[in-house]
This record gives sequence, structure tokens and C-alpha cells, in this order.
Amino acid sequence: MEPIVQMKGITKRFPGVIALDHIDFDVRPGEVHVLLGENGAGKSTLMKVLSGAYTPDEGTILLNGKEYSRLTPHISAEGGISIIYQELSVVNWLDIRENIFMGRLPMKKVGPVSVVDYATMNAKTQELLEKVNLSSRKPTTSVGDLSISEKQMVEIAKSIAFDAKVIVMDEPTSSLTEEEVQKLFAIMRQLREEGKGIVFISHKLSEIVEIGDRITIMKDGGYVGTYQVADLTTDDMVRMMVGREIKGTYQHLPEENFQFGDVMFECKNLTRKDGKVKDVSFSLRRGEILGFSGLVGAGRSETMCAIYGAAPKASGEVWLEGKQLSIKNPYQALRQGIGLVTENRRETGFFQNFSNKRNIAIAKQLKNAKLDGMWGFTNEGEEKEVSEKMRQEIQIKCASLEQLTSQLSGGNQQKVILGKWLGAGVKLLIFDEPTKGIDVGTKSEIYKLIRQLADNGVGVIVVSSEMPELLGLCDRIAVMAEGRITAFFDIADATEEKLAKAATGDIA
Ligand SMILES: Nc1ncnc2c1ncn2[C@@H]1O[C@H](COP(=O)(O)OP(=O)(O)OP(=O)(O)O)[C@@H](O)[C@H]1O
Ligand SMILES: [Mg+2]
Repeated sequence: MEPIVQMKGITKRFPGVIALDHIDFDVRPGEVHVLLGENGAGKSTLMKVLSGAYTPDEGTILLNGKEYSRLTPHISAEGGISIIYQELSVVNWLDIRENIFMGRLPMKKVGPVSVVDYATMNAKTQELLEKVNLSSRKPTTSVGDLSISEKQMVEIAKSIAFDAKVIVMDEPTSSLTEEEVQKLFAIMRQLREEGKGIVFISHKLSEIVEIGDRITIMKDGGYVGTYQVADLTTDDMVRMMVGREIKGTYQHLPEENFQFGDVMFECKNLTRKDGKVKDVSFSLRRGEILGFSGLVGAGRSETMCAIYGAAPKASGEVWLEGKQLSIKNPYQALRQGIGLVTENRRETGFFQNFSNKRNIAIAKQLKNAKLDGMWGFTNEGEEKEVSEKMRQEIQIKCASLEQLTSQLSGGNQQKVILGKWLGAGVKLLIFDEPTKGIDVGTKSEIYKLIRQLADNGVGVIVVSSEMPELLGLCDRIAVMAEGRITAFFDIADATEEKLAKAATGDIA
């Protein structure tokens, strides 16, 4: 079938990198076309060329039968291309209908003046919400009150309202639960039925196999090839995107007969003022990795925030290496040796105007500071050393360590933040969704580093929504539901089924 859009030989250079090197890519009506590649391979950049946000240095784009050497945002949108970016672009302080019709408000005449036609807007929004299975929400609901998955649905509704022919979704599933992913897939299938072309970017191979029709693989800005998903195994995909075999991503358990040390960290009867965490108690032995499983909203991240001093406790005690800690804010947590890699790393993870070097070194420097907060002192030598070490260990792809972190690809920004904590030298490190948005090749490197930390005596806690990740990495797993711990499993008797059952609140 004739493609809706066809990109040929697209090349895009940034200072120090060739982000795209003669890439071919097309989208046909009624298909889900997957774009796969490691962090920094150029996926988002290619989509920004398609949206008209970036001007390519070379190549052509054939859209609805017309050839262009570059698109503008206007030509792209008029041509039926709609992009849902990695960092969502809904406006939190507007309501759903305003977000959907932003820039194209329907107007009506009242006498000589034009006014916004709210009746039409409400009716159309209602229709669209039904289409994306979000009719539980009103057109006038503020977008700031929606969950991430609901915000995505609003973006999809907006694409439908603009009658998009191609809908690009850049890592839409990285923050969704399994159930939300299934809802998204149902809508993608429906759109495909209606003849839309969908571009789907994801690092999760199982999702690609489930929803993809064709797949284009990129490596280091280069074009590897385009295939039918059904013709490839996931091993083929990985080999083509990484350029080598990767086996046993999740297998990083300690050696048999490994003896754990003494209890090094304890949380006793922790309850939060806002009631999101109730009477949570657990302990961690030296050398052990403790996982936290559960559904989104079960209170896992909320527990970690309270330990870290980022949310007020009503009662409970926190003990580290035999000493009771009093932590009122994250600076104090850090100085007493506790680090937290937050789940929402784009919002809370790095400073927009800092270089990679400084963003990586900052945790170590704050930890060694005498006072809470930042006082402008930096140790250049230490900065260089720790950032260079992390760049190598977790393969951060950047033009240089002096480059702004805000210019890196999504996954490489995540790596900078992980590097900051891995290099900080804390006694207890809490990871909340450590591999969100991270490519499969780097995932196993990160698991190796986490295991090394535990082997070196650092206390490690991992919160994750990916059960295979917890089952492959942890020694013990706590499950939470509705703010409480409902079960603990030793890794030897943990299974996905048992974790899932405990997550619904059934005490095992
Ligand atoms: N505005 C920019 N300035 C400088 N370099 C940039 C800019 N945007 C992207 N790059 C570089 O282009 C390359 C490709 O980045 P891109 O964001 O397209 O990767 P990606 O495949 O989407 O990766 P991820 O899976 O991590 O999201 C990276 O090396 C990145 O640092
Ligand atoms: Mg990207």
C-alpha cells in the first residue's frame, strides 16, 4: 500500500554527533510501525524531523504525494502528522477540552462578535473521550488532575480531533502499568483498523512483538533495516540494534550459599501524615537486594519518599547501621548516607542548565557538604573523575561531559541520574524504577552495577513495576497494597503469580 509519508536519506548533525545518518523510514495506512534502537540511536530526533521541529541537513520527505526537503510544524500538522512526545506536552492548568482544541477553538457569532463555542467544544470532547475510553472524565476536568495514562489518552484524543493520519507515540508505555498498556494497545488497534498509521517507540521487546506490524531498526544514528515483526525473534532485534548478543538480562543473583551480613537498615512502623503509607516495617541485611512490588499507587514510592525526608512522617523509625536517624529533608538523608533515584527523573532528576559532569558529581558533593543545600563550591578534579567513571560504566552516550544534560536523549538523561547516585558513595541506595526508558543492552549493565553495590556492602532497595526485573535481581521481595506491606517472599519461592496475588491485597 502507498505510504502516507516517506522519509529518504535523512541526515541530521548536531555539534559533535551525527544524530541521523541517511535514514529511510515510511508509514503506511493501517499499520503499527515500530522504531527500535538503543538510547541515543536517533529515534526521537527522526520523529522531530517528521514533526517539523528539526530541519534535516540532507534527505527528502514525501508527504501526501508532495516532496519536501524539510517540513515545518505547520506543514506537518496540516499533512496529518501528530506526535505524542516522550515528555508529554499537555498543559496541566487547562482543562481537557481546552487542551484538545488549543489553537483551534471552535467559534460562533453572537451578533457582530465571535465568541468561543463552548457547547460544540463540550459535545465534541465528550465524543472523543468516549472513543479513547475515558468517558469517566468530564470535558471540563483539569488535565493536572489526570494520571499519566489519562494524559496520554487526551493527547490521542487530540490527534483524532485533528484528523491525524499518522500518530507517533514516543515511548508511551514507559510509565504505564500493565493494565494501562493493554488499554492503550486496544485503542492503537482500533486506530489501525480505521486506517491510521501509527509509529510506536518502546524499549520493551514483548510489547513490540505484541503490537507491531513492521519494525525499523536504528543503530548509532544509522539505518539497519526495515522488517516484518513476525519475521524476527527478539534475539534478532537485540542483535541488530546493539550489534552483539545479550543473554540472560535479568540473571544477577548472588552465588549459591552466599551468606548475608547483619541487618544494616530498618524501617519500623512507618506511617505517613497523608495516610498513603500505613505501619510499614522491613529490614535489609548487608549484601541483600530488597525489591518492592505492587500496583501503581500501592504506596511503594510514597514509602521511599518518607524514608528520604521528602514527605512528612506521622510516626515510625528509621535505623541505619545501628543508629536511629532523624531525617527532615532530602539533604539530611543524603548527608546521613541515603540516596534515592526517583521514578520521575525528568522532573526531579537533573538540572537543566548543568553539564553532564556537574549533574553526575552533584550528589557526591552535596553528601560531603557540611551544610544542607548547595553552596556553590565544587571540586573540579573530583567532578571529572566521578563523571568519567560513570560515563564508562553505564555507557552514557554524550558528545562530551561538558555538554548540557538537557540535550541528551531521554534514556541517556536517565543514565546521568543513575550515574549521579551510583557515584555518590552512599550507604543505602533506593532505586525507584531504575530501568525506565533504558535500552535492553544497558539494562543488564545496570543490574550488574546494582549487584556490585550490594556485594560491596551498600544497602539496596529496588522499587519496580516490572516483575521479571524484581525476580531476576532481588534476594527478597516485599509486596505492597493500599499503603501496607501484604507479603514478603524469598526469591526462591517468589513467582509472578504470587506477587500479583499479594498486590491485590490478598495476604499470602
Ligand atoms: N538538541 C540537541 N542538541 C544536541 N544534541 C542532540 C540534540 N537532540 C538530540 N541530540 C543528540 O542526538 C542523538 C540522538 O538522540 P535521540 O534523542 O534521537 O535518541 P533516542 O533514540 O530517542 O534515544 P532514547 O531511547 O534514549 O530516547 C543523541 O546523541 C543526542 O545527544
Ligand atoms: Mg527518545
